[in-house]
This record gives sequence, C-alpha cells and structure tokens, in this order.
Amino acid sequence: MSTERTPAIPAGVRGATITGWGTALPDNVVTNADFEARLDTSDEWITERTGIKERRHGGSTAGLAIEAGRAAMEMAGVTGDDIDFVILATTSPDYQIPSTASEVQHELGIAGGAVDLNAACSGFVYGLVHAHGLIAMGLDRILLVGAETLSRITDQDDRNTAILFGDGAGAVVLEASDEGQLLAFDMGSDGSARKFLDAPIGGYMQMVGKEVFRKAVTVMVDSARASMAAAGVTADDIALVVPHQANIRIIEAACSRLEIGSEKVSTVLHATGNTSSASIPLALVDALEGGRVSPGDLVLLVGFGAGMSWASAVVRWTGHLPEVVR
Ligand code: UT7
Repeated sequence: MSTERTPAIPAGVRGATITGWGTALPDNVVTNADFEARLDTSDEWITERTGIKERRHGGSTAGLAIEAGRAAMEMAGVTGDDIDFVILATTSPDYQIPSTASEVQHELGIAGGAVDLNAACSGFVYGLVHAHGLIAMGLDRILLVGAETLSRITDQDDRNTAILFGDGAGAVVLEASDEGQLLAFDMGSDGSARKFLDAPIGGYMQMVGKEVFRKAVTVMVDSARASMAAAGVTADDIALVVPHQANIRIIEAACSRLEIGSEKVSTVLHATGNTSSASIPLALVDALEGGRVSPGDLVLLVGFGAGMSWASAVVRWTGHLPEVVR
C-alpha cells in the first residue's frame, strides 16, 4: 500500500527516461594484496567479510564526474546546451565551497543549474527521484551523476575502513518522456544513527561497522518492500536488483529476506569496493552493458548509507539499451 512518503507516481505526471549513461574509474588499482603488504589484514579476511578484491584510487570528484557525464551525454546525443540541470550526488566533494557540480556544469558547457546532493551512499537514488521531480515541473533534460573520491577521506592506515572504500563515477541523462520509468520510490533518514559513520570536515571517515551492517540490512529490506508495494509489484516481478555496493554479505542478507535470488542481483563491488554515490550507477551500467536488462523489465534500485539514509526506487526499463540486447 502506498503512503504519502512512499508514493506511486500519479497518472498524468510528466515522466522521464534514461537515454544515456557513462562511467569513470581511476587507473590506479589497489588490490587486497597491496593492503596485506602494509596492514594487519589479509586477502582472505577482506574477501570473506566483504566480497571486495580490488578498488580504484585517484582523480578528483569533479574529474571523474565530468568523464562519466561526458560519456552519458555523448550516448544520449546531447550537448551541454540541451541539459537543463546537473545533480551531482557526492559525499566527497572537492571543495567546501563551491559545489563540485559547478565545475561539472562549466566543463561540460551545461546551460542550466547545478547542485551537489549529499545523501551518502543513497545519493544516486535520491538524485534520481529529485531529477524526476524537476522533469515533472517542466525541465526537459537532466544530467545525474554519482561521483566519489573516498580514498581522500579514508585513513589508508586504518584497516577498518581503508579496505572498503574506492573512487569512481557513474552518470545518466534523463529526458522527459511519455513513457516514464519511475513507478514508485521511498526515501528515508534516521539521524539518530549518524555517529555510526561520519567524517568531520577536513578529517577521515570513522565507522562502527557492525552497527552499520545491522541497520543496513533492515533499512534495505524495509525500503525495497515499501517501493515494491507502492508500485504494486512483488519480488517475483523484479528482473534486476541494483543494490548499493558496500558488502556482499549485506547484499546477500537483504536479498535473501526479500526472497530475490542472486542471479537477479548486479554486483561490481569485487572490482570497485564501496564507491558510495557512484556504486549504484556503476552496477546499473554494468548490468545494462552485460545485456541483463530487456525492454519492460522492472528494476529495483536500493541504497543505504551514512545518516543513516536509505532510498529505493522501482523503475520499468523503457530507456535505451545497448545493441547486445536490442
Ligand atoms: O556504505 C556504507 C558503508 N559502510 C558499510 O557498509 C560497512 C558495514 N559493515 C561491514 O561491512 C562490516 O561490519 C565490516 C566489513 C566493516 C567488518 O566486518 P565484521 O564481520 O562486522 O567484522 P568485525 O567488525 O566484527 O570485526 C571482526 C574482527 C575484529 O577483531 P576482534 O575484535 O574479533 O579481534 C576486527 O578488529 O576483525 C577485525 N578486523 C580485521 N581483521 C583483518 C577489522 N578489520 C579487519 C581487517 N582485516 N581489515
């Protein structure tokens, strides 16, 4: 049953569809063996407890966002003049002031407004919902990017966090469309849990991993159920789940409770680590380019992160697909 906070999209609301996508990862690969060589950890521990084998470090948040955004715009066949607004989901902006989105807007020659959105690892799904809202209000095209350089705000000598986080970006172009993709969404926040994962301004991330883990599974499951109920669909109807890529055990526990088999889940964390706002678009693009989405498929996006924040969305894939699955 849909509530005011978890709405199904009302009939007649101007919808949006994804017409292009792109990703960017720094060249520098940091493997579990690299950590094993200088911290009290092991490839075996990291692999078993997280599913991560390697991650990428380097670049700037703006630089990665620009690379991913440019690729998404090229695929959509648009130039900066055609884009009305940039939403950059990030929890690791390059500056306190100005927004990192302003550099992305300028470098890509985008005509419209630009804003950073920080909802930690839920940021891309928050951004997707905000983009749909702006398109419903009359904007025609939005560039939505999730980009992070978490390696800069992670203490590389702290084995509790260093092994988890990586850098990267994923971007999509959303265009107004009669065949809107978003069927329903859920967004939430529990600020009483904010101390379990935080980074002071100018400082490193600190995390109580066990608490984050425990809450993550609960909020992912509850949020996914709320979005599916609002969309009037069940787990059986979902063709693909694109979860936040934090820990394979969190993903498996949540999907098991949702009774969704692992064959329906997109994971890239073995190769990227946890890239916060970038993780869902990286996993979405991986699934699209791997031919795992067909026209009309229902895709469930679900994220959680610091705050704690959480967000999920059910979309029906009416957007572009790569040649392999046309
Ligand atoms: O986007 C959201 C961001 N954060 C997350 O999603 C994090 C969620 N939490 C997790 O993914 C997991 O809690 C971790 C992967 C961080 C830790 O896994 P865990 O199974 O919860 O381990 P633990 O914290 O209970 O630690 C078990 C042991 C401890 O040693 P003792 O106290 O049992 O002697 C830790 O000190 O493992 C130790 N440990 C490590 N050992 C080897 C912690 N980090 C490491 C490490 N290598 N890198």
